Amino acid sequence: MTGIESFSSEERSFPPPEPFKDRALVTDLSLHEEADRDWKGFWARQALALDWYDEWDTICDWRLPFARWFDGGTLNASYNCVDRHVAAGNGDRVAYHWEGEPGDTRTITYADLLADVQRFANVLRDLGVRRGDRVAIYMPMIPELPVAMLACTRIGAAHSVVFGGFSSDALRDRIVDAEAKVLVTADGGWRRGAIVPLKANADASLHAAPSIEAVVVVRRTGQELPMQDGRDHWWHDVMASAATECEPERMGSEDLLYLLYTSGTTAKPKGIMHTTGGYLTQVAFTHRYVFDLRPDTDVYWCAADIGWVTGHSYIVYGPLANGATGVLFEGTPDFPERDRWWSIIERYGVTILYTAPTAIRTFMKWGTAEPEKHDLSSLRLLGSVGEPINPEAWMWYRRHVGGDRCPVVDTWWQTETGAILIAPLPGATTLKPGSATFPLPGIAAEVVDDSGQPVQAGGGYLTLTQPWPSMLRGIYGDPERYHQTYWSRFPGRYFAGDGARVDDEGYFWFMGRVDDVMNVSGHRVSTTEVESALVDHPSVAEAATVGASDEITGQAIIAFVTLKGGQEGTPDHGQVLRQHVATRIGAIARPRTIVFTDDLPKTRSGKIMRRLLRDVAEGRALGDVTTLADASVIEEIKKRAAAAPEED
Ligand code: PRX
Repeated sequence: MTGIESFSSEERSFPPPEPFKDRALVTDLSLHEEADRDWKGFWARQALALDWYDEWDTICDWRLPFARWFDGGTLNASYNCVDRHVAAGNGDRVAYHWEGEPGDTRTITYADLLADVQRFANVLRDLGVRRGDRVAIYMPMIPELPVAMLACTRIGAAHSVVFGGFSSDALRDRIVDAEAKVLVTADGGWRRGAIVPLKANADASLHAAPSIEAVVVVRRTGQELPMQDGRDHWWHDVMASAATECEPERMGSEDLLYLLYTSGTTAKPKGIMHTTGGYLTQVAFTHRYVFDLRPDTDVYWCAADIGWVTGHSYIVYGPLANGATGVLFEGTPDFPERDRWWSIIERYGVTILYTAPTAIRTFMKWGTAEPEKHDLSSLRLLGSVGEPINPEAWMWYRRHVGGDRCPVVDTWWQTETGAILIAPLPGATTLKPGSATFPLPGIAAEVVDDSGQPVQAGGGYLTLTQPWPSMLRGIYGDPERYHQTYWSRFPGRYFAGDGARVDDEGYFWFMGRVDDVMNVSGHRVSTTEVESALVDHPSVAEAATVGASDEITGQAIIAFVTLKGGQEGTPDHGQVLRQHVATRIGAIARPRTIVFTDDLPKTRSGKIMRRLLRDVAEGRALGDVTTLADASVIEEIKKRAAAAPEED
C-alpha cells in the first residue's frame, strides 16, 4: 500500500540568515521540546498570553471527534484584541494602515478601534442582537469590516462573514443556514475601478432570507440606493446616535466565535464553527512565532481578503490579539498598475508580507521589472499560504521580493484548522523551497498510507492524531457530516484531504488534494510534483495538471501551462516541457498533452480548479462553476485544449 508516490527531489536548503537569527524570538528547538514533554500544558501556557476573566478548569476535554478547550474559562475576544492594548498605554499604536483601491487612506489606531467597536456593539444591541445570535457580514475590505466582527464578539454574537465577491445566492444560502438576524454590508466596494454592488446583491438575497430583521449599510462607493424603511440603516446614522461605551460580555471559552462557510467540491457549503478561547490562543501563538512578530516595530501585511479564513486569523484575530500594526488593502495587485503591492510595501515600510502562491506566480508572469521599481528593503520575512508553493515560485519570491535576505515561511493549514499547523519557526528552522517543514510545537501530524499506517519517509495522506486548540468544533447544524468528512477515512485521525510526503529528514511536502491525484499506469502521481517540475522550467510561470482517461495507461497527464511575460506556446515548446518533466521526475510523469493558456481557472480565493480542467480534458460538460472567479478563462481553455496536439 503505497498511498501516493513521490518523485521529487529538492536539494536546496536555507538555514536562518545570521542577521535574522540574531534578533529572532525563537532560535532553537526549545518550544518543540517543551510541547513534546507535555502538549496540553504547553497550550495552557500559550493561553496565558490572553487576558481571561476566569481561568479554565480543564485544558482539553477530548471525546473524539469533539474537543473542548479551556472549559470553564471566560474571556472576550474584542477585549483581547483591542481594550487591553489601550489599557497598556498603546492606544496611539496603529492597528491598521488602510488603503482603499482608489488610493484613499485612513490610519486606525487601537484607540480608534476601541471607540468604533464599542459604538457598533451598541448599534447591534439596539437592533436586537443578543448573546448567542448570528450576524452576517458582507463587506469590502474597509476598516468597518473588522470593526463589525469585533463588535459582534463584544456582545457575544457570532459573525458569519461572506466574501464580498460572492453572489446574492451564495449570500442567501449562508444567511439561511446560520439564521442570521442582522446583515452588515456596504453600498458597494471598488474592484478595478468598478463598483461591486454589495447592497443590491444583498437586497436580491433578502427576499428569501426571512431571519434578517435589520440591515446596516456603510457608505463606501456613494451611488444612489434604495433603503427599505424600518429595515435598512446607514452605518453613519446609527453610529452617530449610539452610546459610546459597551462593557464586553464574559464569554465561555467554548462559546461560538464565528461561522465561516467553506464550499466542499460540490455539495452544500459547510458552516465551519470556531469557538473563542482555543482559537484565539492558537492564532495569537502562531502569528507571533511563525512570523517572528515584534509588535512595536513590525509593519505586517497579510494580503488576503478578510472573507477567507486567512483574513479572519491573520488580518483580524491573530495580529490584533498581539497588538500588531498591519496594512489593510481594498484593491487588487494590478490596479491601477502592476506595481501596486510593491508601492504599498515601500510607502508603509512593510516588514512582513503574507500572501498566496497564486499571487506569486502571477508576479512571476508579469516579470521582475515591477518589484524592481520599488525599494523593498524594509521586508524581513515572507509567508505563503493556500496552495502548495512550487519550489521555483518559492525561489522567485525569496529573490525578487525578499532580496535573498528574508526567510520564506510556507504555512499549511485550512479553514477547519483555524490556525497554522505546519510551518517553520524562521529563526530556528532550515528551510527547503516548497516544503512547509515541520508540525509546529503542540501539533501531532502524521503521513499515513492507504491502510492508515504511518509512513516514515515517502508519500501518503496528511492526518492529525491529537486535537489542537483552534480546531473546528464541527459543521453548523450537521454533526454527522463533521464526523463523516474528517474523522471516518482513518479511524481516530483527522483527515485533511491533502496528500503529503515526509522526506528522510522529516520535512513535510504537500502534494495537493487527494481528489486530484493522477493514476498513471498504476502509479499515483501528485499534481503538485508535476506542476512544480513544469514551473521549474525558466519559461513557465504557472501550471496545472490533471489526469484524463487513457486506454493504455488508465490516466494520462494533461498539463495546462502559462508562460512568463505573455509568451505564446508552440508545439515545439510543448515538446521541450514534456521532456523537461521527464528529466526532472521521470518518464512516468511526462504529460501526454500540453495546453498553453494565458490563465488558469481559479476559485475566488485563488486556488486552481483542477476539477474543471478535468472536465475539459475529458471533453465533458463543465461541473458546478459557482466558485469560479472568471468564467471566460475556462471557455478560452476549452478552445485551446481542442486544438492541442496529443503525444505518445
Ligand atoms: O489543500 C490545502 C491547501 O488549502 C487547503 C485549505 O484551504 P482553505 O480552507 O481555503 O484555507 C486556505 C488558507 C489556510 C488545504 O487543505 N493549502 C493551504 N495552505 C497550504 C496548502 N497546501 C499546501 N501548502 C500550503 N502551505
